Amino acid sequence: MSRTTKPNGGTPVTTQSDPEAERTRTGLFRTKSIEQSIRDTEEPEHQLKKSLSALDLTVFGVGVVIGSGIFVITGTAATEYAGPAVTISFVVAAVVCALAALCYAEFASTVPVAGSAYTFAFASLGEFPAWIIGWDLILELALGCATVAVGWAGYVQSLLDSWGIPLPEALRGPSSHTSGFSFNIAAFLLVLAVMTVVVLGMKLSAWVTSVVVAIKVTVVLIVIAVGAFLINGSNYSPFIPPAQDTEGGTGLSATLLEAIAGFTPSSFGVMGIFTAAAVVFFAYIGFDVVATAAEETRNPQKDVPRGILGSLAICTVLYCAVAVVVTGMQNYKDLDPSAPLAEAFKAVGHPFWAGVISFGAVVGLTVVCMILLLGQSRVFFAMSRDGLLPPVFSAVHPKFRTPYRSTIILGFVTALVAGFISLEELSKLVNIGTLFAFVVVALGVLILRRTRPDLPRGFKAPWVPVLPVASVACSVWLMLNLSVETWLRFAIWMVIGVVLYFLYGRRHSRAAAGNATGNSQ
Ligand code: ALA
Repeated sequence: MSRTTKPNGGTPVTTQSDPEAERTRTGLFRTKSIEQSIRDTEEPEHQLKKSLSALDLTVFGVGVVIGSGIFVITGTAATEYAGPAVTISFVVAAVVCALAALCYAEFASTVPVAGSAYTFAFASLGEFPAWIIGWDLILELALGCATVAVGWAGYVQSLLDSWGIPLPEALRGPSSHTSGFSFNIAAFLLVLAVMTVVVLGMKLSAWVTSVVVAIKVTVVLIVIAVGAFLINGSNYSPFIPPAQDTEGGTGLSATLLEAIAGFTPSSFGVMGIFTAAAVVFFAYIGFDVVATAAEETRNPQKDVPRGILGSLAICTVLYCAVAVVVTGMQNYKDLDPSAPLAEAFKAVGHPFWAGVISFGAVVGLTVVCMILLLGQSRVFFAMSRDGLLPPVFSAVHPKFRTPYRSTIILGFVTALVAGFISLEELSKLVNIGTLFAFVVVALGVLILRRTRPDLPRGFKAPWVPVLPVASVACSVWLMLNLSVETWLRFAIWMVIGVVLYFLYGRRHSRAAAGNATGNSQ
């Protein structure tokens, strides 16, 4: 069947379509076919360079995953929620991520197009859910980048302090113990620096990443290997500290689960392990970013699943080992909230190793910022190519072949967020946003297996439908262990997204009637 349309009031274009496409092209749930998604990547003005291998992707994965989660949040999670059992929390969070990773791997091997969960949602759930997930991914990627930049700035400030050249208060950034105006100049400059690297191109980014990841993993291995000889077995007792009611922990600071079930907010005990898991979940964020680079991968069907699962497996082993070592070196009550790994070495009389770890953290967090910003620019690129965001976000640089305008705009906005906002609440918003994306991707796998069983899948998730259903259940469980306050902020963010969709995206979408096929304007 063929028909003639006048896209954007221009020259009539004759397009081929079928009844199924006609059906899916109307309404909030119109989908974009997988074939169309792949065709879009072949348009010359929208083409990214295909240069990445499975090893590059694994390095990317490890590069973005190991960051402030293990270097900073481990301490808070052990001290406030789980004690030495924070190791179990890391295992719980890893299980949730592994289930999601298998779903991401199947999707990325079926739809090897930039945009990650956004692209997957467009192909399976429809345009509106895709917009929602694209909007939600800003929490994970851009806000995650800002969060890590603030953590990085904390380590830089601590190094500068120990060298006797502290930054003035006005340039250290906002925090709970300072009042008055303060701008986090280090975090701001870091984001602008990584933005420049991302604009210059994937190959340079991958090279920089490899060097930095090597330093970061070496430092983590030093923590494990040196720290293992400094463990005091008595620090493991009690391994799961008994549950305690949290003073003043009512209302907005209670977890949603406690609020729904009417429990008194508490820390530690078995439930504390899950609360800590929802917090240390931040440490795993990023393995899914590998999927955003699918379009720039030489053999995405095989390499993307390998990259995702490989980086997740490596990080899980390292995290559990670090958690066992650090809670064995120092009593969980004494762990430092801002630099627990380095401070644990200082506490047992090894300041040299503490310095090495701080250096590794500063170098390592740089690349986490970079990859999160890279992922965000690619999601915006995909959304813009579909017409849901203005065209400026999908313009590719003629020489570097990167979406440079989108990256520059995002870089400046993210740098300002990092400069003005403190780390604490940001990381929880990042967690809830990412878990929500996991839910959507798992649902997408289920739907696509039913609607498009014919599609070639380079990687198939095992035990479908049990596995995706378990993935949804586990992600929702962790979300329920986040605070009511975090849920409210998340809800407000999503409402803003819905309003923007109806004001802009819905009207300009290329999947709208007449724009869906054959027209690349
Ligand atoms: N997983 C990353 C980190 O821990 C985001 O910094």
